[in-house]
Amino acid sequence: MKASGNTILITGGGSGIGRALAHRWHDAGNRVIVTGRRRDMLEETAAGREGIFVHEFDIADAEAIVAAAAAILATHPGLNVLVNNAGTYNGENPRHKRDLGDAERMIVTNVLGPIRLTNALIDHLSTQADAAIVNVSSGTAFVPYPASPTYSASKAALHSYTAAIRPLLEGRVEVIEIVPPQVQTELTPGQSQDPNSMPLAEFADEVMALLHGSGDRSPAEICVERVRDFRNAERSGSFDALLAMMVEYTPKG
Ligand SMILES: NC(=O)c1ccc[n+]([C@@H]2O[C@H](COP(=O)([O-])OP(=O)(O)OC[C@H]3O[C@@H](n4cnc5c(N)ncnc54)[C@H](OP(=O)(O)O)[C@@H]3O)[C@@H](O)[C@H]2O)c1
Repeated sequence: MKASGNTILITGGGSGIGRALAHRWHDAGNRVIVTGRRRDMLEETAAGREGIFVHEFDIADAEAIVAAAAAILATHPGLNVLVNNAGTYNGENPRHKRDLGDAERMIVTNVLGPIRLTNALIDHLSTQADAAIVNVSSGTAFVPYPASPTYSASKAALHSYTAAIRPLLEGRVEVIEIVPPQVQTELTPGQSQDPNSMPLAEFADEVMALLHGSGDRSPAEICVERVRDFRNAERSGSFDALLAMMVEYTPKG
């Protein structure tokens, strides 16, 4: 992915990782469109920055995705990069029968959302020079967090989907996966203050360096130092030990 001169659509650009990446890409000389449901948060991302645009829509709504993609392309026909960053997390306790509303919402938002938005934009992206799709998965795609099995499964699904489309789009659209470790955002309440989570600015800086440090072509996977033990757990034989550690962090009962 080239470092500047892109028109980049970032879902979930009103907060956390999406906002941090939006600001860095904007600073580097890109046009950026941020999307999400909370207009005030999107406007905060764009405040004082000419060249950041906002578009409000719900990534869990299939029809809204089709409408938003059409509206964004009408206004930004040079769109060449899609960043599927929006995501949602809920703790779960699958030891007992429960309401599956949260689980279903995580699958619709974290898996179907990126699949649907990619589908709405793929024919356009395929015609653009320097086109890229960047999907934001998670270290939990590689070592699941038992406190939220569905979240972990949704990110494993996004990883698999990303790996599957990469060779099919080779030569037309670069397909990149960002694999965050636990980062200081409000993905879960209070996490932005958690000293065990990676500081957001540090994470965003390392992502930018990995994405753009080797010219116009990026690595297929962007794994900051802090997530590499998770990413490589199966390969290195540390999966069982890391899963046991994640069980320790999981609420009892
Ligand atoms: N922080 C971490 O520890 C961590 C670790 C691994 C992976 N990730 C992933 O990183 C991505 C960004 O998360 P974050 O940490 O930056 O948390 P965040 O600040 O909560 O960001 C999530 C964003 O997704 C948007 N979003 C959620 N549901 C949506 C919906 N139905 N429609 C449209 N937008 C929606 C939210 O905007 P609205 O609420 O305004 O819609 C919000 O801006 C997520 O995919 C997350 O799973 C985060």
